[in-house]
Amino acid sequence: MSMLHTDDVNEILTLMNPGDDPVLECMEDQANREEFPTVGHEVGAFFRLCARLMDAESVFEFGSRFGYSAYWMAPAIGPAGRIVLTEVDEEELDQARTYFEQGGYADRAVFERGDALEIVDRYDGPFDLVHLDHENERYLAGFETVREKVSQGGMIVADNVLHSGDAMSPADLRAVLDGPHSPEEGSSLAGIAEYYTHVIDDPEFETSVVPVGEGIFVSVRTEA
Ligand SMILES: C[S@@+](CC[C@H](N)C(=O)[O-])C[C@H]1O[C@@H](n2cnc3c(N)ncnc32)[C@H](O)[C@@H]1O
Repeated sequence: MSMLHTDDVNEILTLMNPGDDPVLECMEDQANREEFPTVGHEVGAFFRLCARLMDAESVFEFGSRFGYSAYWMAPAIGPAGRIVLTEVDEEELDQARTYFEQGGYADRAVFERGDALEIVDRYDGPFDLVHLDHENERYLAGFETVREKVSQGGMIVADNVLHSGDAMSPADLRAVLDGPHSPEEGSSLAGIAEYYTHVIDDPEFETSVVPVGEGIFVSVRTEA
């Protein structure tokens, strides 16, 4: 569910986007029952499109919950590809595994339980697409941990950057950009703002804000 469009636009986007996969529908039903929204069709379809455009073969996700966003990418990486899902909650990860099995994508997925920032250390990469969707206040740590493992032309996508529990306001962002004030330390907004100010000036990545879902930062690796 996007906070960035009117209800009508949201409905049109949902109707127009692909996703007639019964497994995705089950996942959406579960999210609705639990009142914990997924990234939604709009962002899911965007991820799949990105994966297809770059012929992605290797994906790493920080924070997978029951696998909705990862599942959207699974068809695009092909049978020889690999998507690593990470999740601290065992039950959520088990559900992700079940959904991937139901959809026929389990053979291209690795399910890792634990802290994504530690798990990623065990992988050499290269990753074509990385999704940051764990604790907002640790996005920058996630970016720094994985950056050297991202292939040239590959991307790191950070989710919930315009709305994460609370909406990011222009005043919040100005306070960070102009200093010395900043959002409450340790808050989601502080994490997002810290992430933005860091990656926007990173000479090895080109970063843009894409206003889909709850807003994503897309950082493409331009230099090895
Ligand atoms: C917003 S949800 C992820 C949603 C999922 N990416 C999707 O769109 O379908 C965030 C998940 O990250 C998990 N999480 C939080 N910190 C984590 C960490 N350091 N490592 C792995 N998982 C983490 C949480 O338990 C939660 O299930």
